[in-house]
Amino acid sequence: MTEPTESQMALMFSFFEDVFRKGPGSEESTLKALSMLDDLPPSPRIVDFGCGSGVASLVLAQAIDCTVTAVELHQPFLDELQNIADRDGLADRILTVRADMDDPPFPDQAFDLLWCESAVYNIGFEEGLKRWRRLVPIGGYVVVSEVTWLTQHPPLDAVEFWQAEYPAMTTIDDNLSKVRSAGFETFGYFVIPNQDWENYYGPLESHLATFRSKYPASAEAQSLAETLQHEVNVWREHGSSYGYVFYFGRAN
Ligand SMILES: C[S@@+](CC[C@H](N)C(=O)[O-])C[C@H]1O[C@@H](n2cnc3c(N)ncnc32)[C@H](O)[C@@H]1O
Repeated sequence: MTEPTESQMALMFSFFEDVFRKGPGSEESTLKALSMLDDLPPSPRIVDFGCGSGVASLVLAQAIDCTVTAVELHQPFLDELQNIADRDGLADRILTVRADMDDPPFPDQAFDLLWCESAVYNIGFEEGLKRWRRLVPIGGYVVVSEVTWLTQHPPLDAVEFWQAEYPAMTTIDDNLSKVRSAGFETFGYFVIPNQDWENYYGPLESHLATFRSKYPASAEAQSLAETLQHEVNVWREHGSSYGYVFYFGRAN
């Protein structure tokens, strides 16, 4: 996987400023994941890493009495989250922080629950969990979703695409053992439904034409649009061979 250039990153951010949900998921899946945590302290302190515009932070803050520290690199995503939190009366529960989740600027045991939906791949699944482990006390929770192979022998097209985009993508068993080696006892996982992918890919696909016409002369923008369309096509064709999986752990 080649690292994106600065201008490619700028285009990527520009694209996703216009797409609210930036990864597969749903309110239902976020709430289902939350419901698996039966021993949270009162008013838990939650951190949502790679929060984007806050799809998960907002659901969590709405669902329970808690504080959510929403961490993200791109300020315009945080601004959108802050605006929604202000509008919906959730500003006292959500704190937006522009920071690198690879080096989170928080003291040890600052949180009771580490949350991350479709973002940890940016810093590596196991590496991220290892870095975050110090942020919760023993018994603290981690909930993380990650794209995962669901079959032993996926179709070649899917393998080729994901080898190029995310060669570290692996199986459920491998990821569970990575959660354990990062210092958490695992207590479950679930695969999100196809509708959660549609929730992401539907608006994304609709936005592609607008994005292409915004940057007609940029080869990089056209190429980004093609890659995104290809990702959607690979999923429509071969989506049963991989999925997004929520993993659950408790610090030990
Ligand atoms: C696929 S998006 C998912 C966003 C959000 N969780 C959602 O589901 O809509 C991944 C997010 O991680 C953010 N991100 C990537 N690398 C990061 C880093 N090192 N620190 C903080 N955020 C990062 C990106 O800007 C992006 O918003």
